[in-house]
Amino acid sequence: MAEVIEALRPKPGGSYADGTIGGAGHATAILEASSPTGWLFGVDRDGDAVEVARARLARFAGRFEIRQGNFAELAERVEAGSCDGVLLDLGVSSPQLDVAERGFSFQQDGPLDMRMDKSQSLTAAGLVNEEQAEKLANIFWKFGGERDSRRFAKAIERDRQLRKFETTRQLAELIERLSPRAGKKTHPATKVFQALRIAVNDEIGSLRRGLDGALQILKPGGRLAVITFHSLEDRVVKEFGRRLALDYVVAGDVDVPELRQSATPKLRLVTRKAVLPGQREVEENPRSRSAQLRVMEKI
Ligand SMILES: C[S@@+](CC[C@H](N)C(=O)[O-])C[C@H]1O[C@@H](n2cnc3c(N)ncnc32)[C@H](O)[C@@H]1O
Repeated sequence: MAEVIEALRPKPGGSYADGTIGGAGHATAILEASSPTGWLFGVDRDGDAVEVARARLARFAGRFEIRQGNFAELAERVEAGSCDGVLLDLGVSSPQLDVAERGFSFQQDGPLDMRMDKSQSLTAAGLVNEEQAEKLANIFWKFGGERDSRRFAKAIERDRQLRKFETTRQLAELIERLSPRAGKKTHPATKVFQALRIAVNDEIGSLRRGLDGALQILKPGGRLAVITFHSLEDRVVKEFGRRLALDYVVAGDVDVPELRQSATPKLRLVTRKAVLPGQREVEENPRSRSAQLRVMEKI
């Protein structure tokens, strides 16, 4: 998204953190725009992405450092108040979706894995084969908005007694049997796969910690740009921004004006509404169709 670079306004001598370096597309644009002296610190949970990014950024040698890790720990790796811009471009990358062995996709058969960090022990198969039906249903509903969550979870619990779930196809076929496609635009297993991925990688927990960390490492006037791919993530980012832009804190769960306590706002919302990709970008990259960008500035 060109809007990301416009929002971050990279400049020579500036210092930037990319919490989701992926294929280094945005990182390249940041290093180019901040030539010749801008600095970039990048992380990704995925070791494969880290290697690809290092190779792609070779021409900027001396101006960047990349580590494998979770952006939830950004504040432990980058000095507080040192960055002019932080980017979090959430979700999975095209290579993760396209390599069947990573187990993210129901379109291709692969092991039921879905770990972004391959050194982690919990996999999607682990959840599907071990969790109680009630917990699985909760995951499908909370992280996927799947209306048939209970029915699917019960069927999984029944089927796994005969044969453990090992592959993405096995799970996708069960959901297809329970919920025939019948001309629907999206595959019936879409929400279940999204929910499992979010649970396996603790994506919402990481996002909350990552947002707090990003704010800590920014300089006053520095900007945070976050790209989300589904409403659950976007809500977390929106609420984080709105809460910290207020000049008061809400006491309790309900905002009662008389009970507000004054506070200093920590950030300013640069985008009041989420920015959506333009038609051209969606045509060039269909996976960008559900992307939403929010930008904030530290005060
Ligand atoms: C959409 S891609 C990023 C693409 C990148 N901006 C580019 O221009 O090539 C998302 C990346 O974020 C990584 N990721 C997701 N959650 C993460 C987390 N909590 N910490 C670090 N990396 C994460 C994934 O492994 C994936 O490589």
